[in-house]
Amino acid sequence: MKFVIATHNKGKVVEFKRMLEPMGIEVVTAELSEPEENGTTFGENAFIKADSACKETGLPAVADDSGLCVDYLDGAPGIYSARFAEPGKRRLTVLEKLKGVPEEQRGAHFVSAVCCVFPNGDRIDAEGKCYGTIAFESRGENGFGYDSIFVQDGRTFGEMTDEEKDARSHRGKAFAEFEEKLREYLKGKG
Ligand code: IMP
Repeated sequence: MKFVIATHNKGKVVEFKRMLEPMGIEVVTAELSEPEENGTTFGENAFIKADSACKETGLPAVADDSGLCVDYLDGAPGIYSARFAEPGKRRLTVLEKLKGVPEEQRGAHFVSAVCCVFPNGDRIDAEGKCYGTIAFESRGENGFGYDSIFVQDGRTFGEMTDEEKDARSHRGKAFAEFEEKLREYLKGKG
């Protein structure tokens, strides 16, 4: 089965492939227009992206909308994670806003909402969260986005291998749920 991935984020393409290909799904990318992400939740925005990609390509389309929610910032940047501060300054902006904030008030979580839309209008939704804290400084070169400032068990996601991140990450959890639902869905079709 061939799925198109509805994202322009290279870091996400790599993770999508890593997780979907073992499920026997052929993953393709396409030149897609960027629909306005005007949903109020991660789930709504994931649907907007998947639905638009499915309509443009005629293929089942899978999208994820994800972001970082920082307790001390009342859940910001949340659904605005990709648009929060200028590119290249996002991690630093979070660190600046948390300057002097003690460890016990640095709680944060990542959320990933995955949505898959089929050409017949069927859809599958899944969501994953992972909890940690915001580091005092950026550490590690792996991953993308806020990985180098998000700490779990003493290490940032930027300091973890791909396998370690996938095993605990919001996207890893969302995909595990997605995989289960997709298998059920395909069973019903077959
Ligand atoms: P969107 O889902 O494309 O709207 O963007 C989500 C933004 O959240 C990304 O641009 C990243 O900055 C951030 N983000 C989402 N998932 C991750 C992750 O696994 N690690 C680090 N940053 C992430």
